[in-house]
Amino acid sequence: MLEAQVKVHRDLPPTRMWTFGGSFPGPTIETTSGKPLLVDWENRLPARHFLPIDHSLHGAGKEVPEVRTVVHLHGGRTPAESDGYPENWILPGKTQTCYYPCPQEAAHLFYHDHAMGINRLNIYAGLQGMFLVRDAQESQLGLPSGKYEIPLLICDRILQKDGQLIYPVSEKPGEVWVPEAFGEAMLANGKSQPFLDVEPRLYRFRVMNGANGRFFRFSLANQQEFFQIGSDQGLLAAPVRLKRVTMAPGERADLLIDFSAMASERVEWISDSFSILQFRVGKTISGERGSVPAKLRALDRLPEASAVKVRRLTLDEKMDDVQRSMGMLLNNTPWHAPVTEDPALNSTEIWELVNLTDDAHPIHLHLVRFQILDRRRIDVFHFQQMNEIRFGGPAVPPDANELGWKDTVRADPHMVTRIIVPFTDFAGRYVWHCHVLEHEDNEMMRPFDVLSP
Ligand code: C2O
Ligand code: CU
Repeated sequence: MLEAQVKVHRDLPPTRMWTFGGSFPGPTIETTSGKPLLVDWENRLPARHFLPIDHSLHGAGKEVPEVRTVVHLHGGRTPAESDGYPENWILPGKTQTCYYPCPQEAAHLFYHDHAMGINRLNIYAGLQGMFLVRDAQESQLGLPSGKYEIPLLICDRILQKDGQLIYPVSEKPGEVWVPEAFGEAMLANGKSQPFLDVEPRLYRFRVMNGANGRFFRFSLANQQEFFQIGSDQGLLAAPVRLKRVTMAPGERADLLIDFSAMASERVEWISDSFSILQFRVGKTISGERGSVPAKLRALDRLPEASAVKVRRLTLDEKMDDVQRSMGMLLNNTPWHAPVTEDPALNSTEIWELVNLTDDAHPIHLHLVRFQILDRRRIDVFHFQQMNEIRFGGPAVPPDANELGWKDTVRADPHMVTRIIVPFTDFAGRYVWHCHVLEHEDNEMMRPFDVLSP
C-alpha cells in the first residue's frame, strides 16, 4: 500500500491516491478454487492521512495513529486470523500476512481496507482491488476470456479541477462525519469518462460497485439487452436477460454483453443520467463471436427447514433532535458490545434483517455465502411500538438475478429481508456490516462468532 500519483483523465493533473502497488484499482489477483495464496500486505503509506478523520467515531480517536490499514478479502472463505478484523490494523512500515485457501466456487471477490473508523477514507483514497477465483466447472462453459473478459470496478468520487480528491465533511459545526459521500465524477477502473475499443462480439464484464455509498442502475444507452450470468458468489443457474442492473455498494455482477449488432457504433454504459464509459465498437472480429450458454451450473435453493435458528436483527438509525442522522446501528447495538450473533460451525440459520430506516442498506457477512429468501413490507411504527412484525404486503421473492449465492444483500427500507446462511469451513470471530462505508464506520457493524462444536 503506497501513495501514488494516478492519472484519472488525460486533461487533469495526476491525483494523489493511496493504492495497492501504485495503481487504482489495485492489481487483479487470480487464483483457482482450493489453490491457497499467501499474501503479504505491506503498509508503506505516509504517517498522516490526507482525508478528514472524524476522531469522535469509535476506534478513530486521537489516541490511535491516524494511518492504519487492515486488508480484508471480501467474499473470501478465509480463516478468521487472516480475514482482516477491523481492530487488527497495522501501521506504516508493518506487514499483514494473510493465508487465503479459497475453498470456494469460482467467484468475483475483491480486497479492500477495513481499518476501524477510517475505512471509508482509506477506500475512498484508493485502497481496493479485484480478486477472481476460477474453477473447472466455470472454465468448461467457454465464456469470453482473455481480452474479452474485463473486470470493471465502478465508483464515484468528488474530484476538484486540479484533479485532487475531496472527501466531504459535515456542515454541522464541530462535526466531521457525513452519512453518505456522493461524487459527480464516475470512475471506471479509476478513469473518468474513458472509452473502450471492443470488437462486435460477446464480452464478459466482471462489474463491481466500489462506491462508498452510491447505488448504480447500469444500462446501455441504446437500451439493448444484456445477460447477467453471475452475482457476488459466482454463477447463476442460467443467464438472466436484463436491460438494467441495480447494484448496491459491494455487490458484483457478471455480465455478458453482445456488441455484434452494434458494429461501428459508439454506445455508452450509463447509470441514470451519468455516463460511465463509452464502448467504441469496431467493424471486425478477430475470432469467434461467442455465445451465451443456456445453462450455467446446478444451483439448489436451500430449504427453509434446513435452518436451525432464526435471528431477527434490526437496522436502525439514530437521529438527533432536529432529525439529522447521527449514525446507524445493527440491532440497536454498538460495535463494542458483547457478541450476540454466535452461529455454530456447520449449522444453517435464517437472518431476518428488519430495516426500520428510510434507506436501503447493503448488508454483508464475512466468511459465508447465503441465499435471499424474500423481502416483505412491514409496519415500522407498529414494530417500534410493539416489537412485533405486522406485514404490510405479500412476501416478494428475490429478483431473477438474485437467485444465486450472495454475500451482500440489499435490505430495502421498511422491509424485512430474509437470508438463509450456512456457516461452514471456519470457526472464529468475523464481522457483518452495512457496505455503505459511512454507515459501517459509524457503528453499523457488529462482530459475530462462529462457534466450533
Ligand atoms: Cu467488503 Cu467487511 O467488507
Ligand atoms: Cu447502511
